[in-house]
Amino acid sequence: MEKFPSCIFLLLLTLTTHNLIIPSLSLKCNPAEKEALLKIKKELGSPTKLSSWNPTTDCCSHKWEGVLCDSQTYRVNKLDLFDLNLPKHVQIPPSIFTNLPFINFLSIDNIPNLVGTIPPSISKLTKLEVLIISGTSISGEIPNSLSQIKTLTSILLTDNKLTGTIPATLSSLPDVFSIYFNGNQLTGTIPESYGSLPKSFMCFGLAENRLTGKIPASLANLNLVLVNLSGNALEGDASVLFGSKKRTVELSLDKNMLSFDIGKVGLPKNLTLLNLSKNKIYGALPKGLTKLKVLSDFNVSYNNLCGEIPIGGKLQNFNESSYAHNKCLCGSPLRHCKT
Ligand SMILES: *[C@@H]1O[C@H](CO)[C@@H](O)[C@H](O)[C@H]1NC(C)=O
Ligand SMILES: *[C@@H]1O[C@H](CO)[C@@H](O)[C@H](O)[C@H]1NC(C)=O
Ligand SMILES: *[C@@H]1O[C@H](CO)[C@@H](O)[C@H](O)[C@H]1NC(C)=O
Ligand SMILES: *[C@@H]1O[C@H](CO)[C@@H](O)[C@H](O)[C@H]1NC(C)=O
Ligand SMILES: *[C@@H]1O[C@H](CO)[C@@H](O)[C@H](O)[C@H]1NC(C)=O
Repeated sequence: MEKFPSCIFLLLLTLTTHNLIIPSLSLKCNPAEKEALLKIKKELGSPTKLSSWNPTTDCCSHKWEGVLCDSQTYRVNKLDLFDLNLPKHVQIPPSIFTNLPFINFLSIDNIPNLVGTIPPSISKLTKLEVLIISGTSISGEIPNSLSQIKTLTSILLTDNKLTGTIPATLSSLPDVFSIYFNGNQLTGTIPESYGSLPKSFMCFGLAENRLTGKIPASLANLNLVLVNLSGNALEGDASVLFGSKKRTVELSLDKNMLSFDIGKVGLPKNLTLLNLSKNKIYGALPKGLTKLKVLSDFNVSYNNLCGEIPIGGKLQNFNESSYAHNKCLCGSPLRHCKT
């Protein structure tokens, strides 16, 4: 069975390819950038993982953990800080934003002792394409200034302590591919403006936050591959996320307060995962579900569905737990319908 690789997986593939470029052996590290990196190391409390950041070696030699330079200009273009066990709580070293202006890839991943906020000065990274801040204790709002970085393709700010609302201005990013804010404490609604995100936009994750209100009707314009809005307090109609012409592979809307007629939605042919569990969805399951050839994860439990479960396709491959706790859903794998 074919499964579309997750957006993060795609990103890692890109990074690995870059890593394979043969390193230059000459000492070319830009002195100001080397100084900035050493300052960053010091501000992070010199964690053992960064012991390879040695002032006597070249920062572009590929020996410096998580540091990559452009093969022509020798300016630092990738900084990948991960699994750092910091001796104490520290903020993101400001030098990252002010003294490494050629970075196109910045990843700060699994650094629990990292605190403070994402400063608006992040917009000084005018060449940034991929921004990952994940698994930290960073709090405060997602800066609006991100929308000034026109090169951004992927913004993954997952499993932090971010609060406030989702910046509406990100809809103006011309080449954005994925936006993931899963696992924070974001409030407010999904911005109406996101309906005008560009055609390149494919992966959208806002799961496990505190989002409320309706899904904007404007999102009908999007053609997403991966959608994960699970674990919020979204209400009303989610049918704009469906459609028989869409390229959607995974759609997770579980654990919300969504309420709409499931019988009236169009079904993307390539759906592998559909999770609608724990909402207030009503109506009868559409027959079209039996035509989904690659459906492998399906859950409509804990809703207000009624009527007979259509027979065929993959639908009887799922057990009772995928259908249980509805208003009057019946038929295999649940009990027979009364005639
Ligand atoms: C959706 O996001 C949540 C929170 O990050 C995660 O636990 C869950 O596995 C995701 N669902 C899918 C289908 O990827
Ligand atoms: C569905 O998947 C197939 C095979 O990966 C692909 O060729 C096709 O374009 C996809 N259809 C849509 C609507 O995305
Ligand atoms: C669907 O959502 C429910 C409720 O959040 C969760 O328990 C279940 O593991 C999910 N199933 C799949 C296949 O994602
Ligand atoms: C139902 O299927 C799920 C997923 O395949 C499995 O984890 C679970 O144990 C099954 N439950 C029952 C009651 O058979
Ligand atoms: C479906 O969701 C329910 C409720 O969250 C969960 O108990 C059940 O295990 C899930 N079943 C599958 C197959 O995901």
